[in-house]
Amino acid sequence: MKFITADTYEKLSRQAANIISAQVIIKPDSVLGLATGSSPLGAYKQLIEWYKKGDIDFSGVTSVNLDEYVGLNGSNEQSYRYFMNKNFFEHININIDNTYVPDGCASDLKAEGESYDRRIEMLGGIDLQLLGIGLDGHIGFNEPDRYFVKSTHVVDLHESTIKANSRFFKNIGEVPKQAITMGMVSIMQAKKILLIASGKLKREILEKAFYGPITPEIPASILQLHPDITVIYSEN
Ligand code: GLP
Repeated sequence: MKFITADTYEKLSRQAANIISAQVIIKPDSVLGLATGSSPLGAYKQLIEWYKKGDIDFSGVTSVNLDEYVGLNGSNEQSYRYFMNKNFFEHININIDNTYVPDGCASDLKAEGESYDRRIEMLGGIDLQLLGIGLDGHIGFNEPDRYFVKSTHVVDLHESTIKANSRFFKNIGEVPKQAITMGMVSIMQAKKILLIASGKLKREILEKAFYGPITPEIPASILQLHPDITVIYSEN
């Protein structure tokens, strides 16, 4: 594991964007596993800037996102599909048909999970998976549990996650109680993983996840077993 400490969030974002752009330059048809949340916003902004300068070409890239709220469709401003379109996809030349986000409105969410995993398999797996980390150690929406869940599945969000994510909603009552998230197999089979986290609040969970025991109580701890993971942390 490479653990990099950046002085500022701007530097963290730049380093993360560097790793993502290197991946796309080396393999223009990369499959990128993408994440939402506030952590990746700076990296997306930087990548957009480099794209506009003509330094990166996303036309051959396919993306698969980690998760989506159950019951929110892509036109809902709080959905992760909307987030990705607004904060990244609309500003670069990725083919929108090659961007995948689990469908949180599918009538059969179990079947949606299965077909999402099949799609990732058909794409040949993920080349680079970008991750944030929740305060309880969740990755994607894999919440602390008694076991690691392997496949894309529906999850009941924990109170602490609902509270943490309520900052994006008008009030806490509007936060969906469930989500559909990629499971640990697709994440762990990614060829490379890049996890970014910023702020003093994240320090304790990072220590537990990367220097403590591997346990489903801290889902991110499984990443210790990944052969090619880079973690970038900035305190500010
Ligand atoms: C959400 C997302 C996660 C993300 C986490 C942390 O719960 N499902 O993928 O890592 O929030 O978000 P932030 O980066 O805003 O702290």
